[in-house]
Amino acid sequence: MTDASILARAWAYEAAESLRVTDRPAFHLTPRVGWMNDPNGFSYHDGAYHLFYQYHPYSMKWGPMHWGHAVSQDLLHWTYLPAALAPDSEADGGGCFSGSALTLPDGRHLLMYTGIQRESGAQQQCLAVGDGRAYEKYPGNPVLTRAELPEGFTDRDFRDPKIWRASDGTYRCVTGAMSGDGSGAALLFASEDAFTWRFVTVLDRSRNALGKMWECPDFFLLDDRAVLLVSPCEMAGESLGVLPGSNSLALLGTWDESTGTFHREQVQLIDHGLDFYAPQTTLAPDGRRILVAWMQNWAFLDGQPPQQRWFGQMTLPRELFFRRGRLCQRPIREISSLHTNHVSFRNQLIQAETTLPGIHGRKLDMTLRVRPRAGCAAFRVGLNCGGGLRATLIWRIGESLLHFDRSALEVHANHLHERTCRVFVMDGELSLRILLDRNSVEVFAGEGETTMSSVVYPPDANEGITFQADGGAELDIDKYDLDQE
Ligand code: FRU
Repeated sequence: MTDASILARAWAYEAAESLRVTDRPAFHLTPRVGWMNDPNGFSYHDGAYHLFYQYHPYSMKWGPMHWGHAVSQDLLHWTYLPAALAPDSEADGGGCFSGSALTLPDGRHLLMYTGIQRESGAQQQCLAVGDGRAYEKYPGNPVLTRAELPEGFTDRDFRDPKIWRASDGTYRCVTGAMSGDGSGAALLFASEDAFTWRFVTVLDRSRNALGKMWECPDFFLLDDRAVLLVSPCEMAGESLGVLPGSNSLALLGTWDESTGTFHREQVQLIDHGLDFYAPQTTLAPDGRRILVAWMQNWAFLDGQPPQQRWFGQMTLPRELFFRRGRLCQRPIREISSLHTNHVSFRNQLIQAETTLPGIHGRKLDMTLRVRPRAGCAAFRVGLNCGGGLRATLIWRIGESLLHFDRSALEVHANHLHERTCRVFVMDGELSLRILLDRNSVEVFAGEGETTMSSVVYPPDANEGITFQADGGAELDIDKYDLDQE
């Protein structure tokens, strides 16, 4: 039995209250109103991309989880649809947690998600079926419970199913789980029809080396390599690598579909910015593997203006590819449809801090190619500059390090505002593609071999961009404004 009044209340609330949201980023998806966390159900269904999200419409804080829903043709212009799921049934009355989607052979859209059983707190996998707009909970929910868990695993932490279709037309899903040693794992399940599921194997596990609970797994092949994405909680931090706390990792290896055996060869941090978590991918109709993540980190949930009526946004969707053995990301190519006002410079000498004519703005796509002169120690870009405030990107040339620092923006919260990562320099030149939107800075360094995604809340008037090279550097720039109309 579902209590239809719970979803009806959410629909009425979001329809009325979203009219009061006036301050959204231009091309990043935000919640229709209220709170957003993980991307869910990212899929191409019936001629459109669907992106659902963990959603609490009623406040700027996490609360009983619904699924918000938006659709798009180009992953840039999003249309909100009514909330797809609400915590309104026996199997999920404590919340509809993260999950995924696919299109069934009969054309229906299937959502697989974690239901929280209200009384016991048990986490169990549930289904809902719909037409791309309205969804009905499957009467047989839950479809995966503790009964299917291997020895030592607990249903207190058993969530975030990512479903896909295997090469023989049957179904697989991977979930996050907590194993007997107190650390995370990814579990593989199989089904003939996507409704009846059985446990296959433990795909991979942390063994207390890669954090505690593994949240929001995803699994796919890219260029014949197997890629397992996980978002571990409570990782121990290292200066150049992971943040203390929540991170998102790509585990790269090989996979035998017939046995379900994944063999991990390599671990890579997916993004080195301050705000990136719970990425989920989908396959575009043209074969591109596209990733989107929650551009936020559980550790930094403040800083936004008090009058803002939305909280949380998605990263710009990115295309995944391999280069020199690394999983790389580039902005979706559709972004070029928003390009206006091209401004370019070639071999521009940068020394003392300077601005360049036509290079400013808050919504732009800018590629820099930096060639430092001998003895040049650092190249700096000031972003969101104005009124003594700024974010800074610094390439420390001798050390091959890229440093992002938003501490000189007007952010009051007392937490980490700086990250550093290693960059890959080709023939003495570093490329930095920087995408700015109203409330974010996304950096793709070295053709996408490292990315840094961070949220910022500067005053709207802060459009300044500055350049400085201690010791001199030649700079090529191509800058486009991003126009949403
Ligand atoms: C990750 C997460 C998921 C869970 C969801 C709840 O950010 O904790 O594991 O399904 O958020 O909103």
